[in-house]
Amino acid sequence: MNLRLHNFVGGGTGFIGSALVDTFRIFGVNTTVVSRMPGPGRITWNELERCGLPEDISAVINVAGQNILDPRCRWTPGFKQNVWNSRVYTTKTLAKAVVHTKAETFATISGVAYYKPSEIEYTEDSKCEKYDFLSELCHEWERAAELSTNSNIRQFTIRSGVVLGRKGGMIGQIFLPFYFGLGGRIGTGKQYMPWIHIRDLINLFLFAIDTKDVSGILNGVAPQIITNEQFTKAFAAALWRPAVIPVPTFLLNMAFHKERAKIMTEGQKVIPKRVLDAGYEYEFPNIDAACKQFAKLIYIDDLF
Ligand SMILES: NC(=O)c1ccc[n+]([C@@H]2O[C@H](COP(=O)([O-])OP(=O)(O)OC[C@H]3O[C@@H](n4cnc5c(N)ncnc54)[C@H](OP(=O)(O)O)[C@@H]3O)[C@@H](O)[C@H]2O)c1
Repeated sequence: MNLRLHNFVGGGTGFIGSALVDTFRIFGVNTTVVSRMPGPGRITWNELERCGLPEDISAVINVAGQNILDPRCRWTPGFKQNVWNSRVYTTKTLAKAVVHTKAETFATISGVAYYKPSEIEYTEDSKCEKYDFLSELCHEWERAAELSTNSNIRQFTIRSGVVLGRKGGMIGQIFLPFYFGLGGRIGTGKQYMPWIHIRDLINLFLFAIDTKDVSGILNGVAPQIITNEQFTKAFAAALWRPAVIPVPTFLLNMAFHKERAKIMTEGQKVIPKRVLDAGYEYEFPNIDAACKQFAKLIYIDDLF
């Protein structure tokens, strides 16, 4: 692995970011986090804007973003602006800074909300118009990562499905209800649920950083297409629990607002065509094995 020198990770304190930072550090790569809060091994977004990035760095990655499904935050215009800026503005800031460095790679994340929920099987080559707030966000988020045409830095974006892992994201939120046998499908459960195990997402970042001819969009999803109902059954079975208490769509619409509840109540059929063509081998291509990995109350794992 050629992860020399020094990497920068925007949002490196979060679920995905800390897994990335931990992995880089395991490989002995000096890694600095870009965060809203100062601290050891960190710089703030303000410092970054003021001083830029050091010249002698290797990879810059952005996985910052306000949690859209934070149940404590109402879906107000102010919160939506926060959701937007925390992705588009942070990505733009890093894209502007990275071109003045000797970095080899600039990597970012976006989401499968880019694709309109339907029966269509989407690959990275599928063209999709913006159709709602979240898809518009994904389009702008990806555009923010584009580098000036005279830059030689390789850029790629992982368009990620739901990231599954014990230490955060969706599993972090639903673990206890499922553990106590109070879990269930969302709505009819028939909506597709593009997903990826956190280890595969991190390994995909490393693989793409290391594979010189990979650039552009990569669908960060497992090759197995599943529905929410299939996920619910797999997770409940891995925990040896029933999962017979469905969460009605109208309740989620009321609690979260329809515009963001869509992340849970609707889904897309997403194929990781370019990822497979590039030769990436999944550690967890199958939902049953993935769920078994994180279905533990006491989770002791050096990795994530
Ligand atoms: N988890 C998933 O299933 C999933 C799926 C697809 C895409 N993604 C995207 O991947 C990114 C990371 O997801 P995650 O699950 O790791 O999220 P997370 O655990 O909530 O972490 C996100 C990080 O972003 C930073 N952040 C939060 N609010 C911010 C704001 N208003 N302005 C600037 N930075 C802010 C925080 O870092 P500081 O507090 O240090 O500033 C935080 O550690 C997000 O953009 C998310 O949309 C996630």
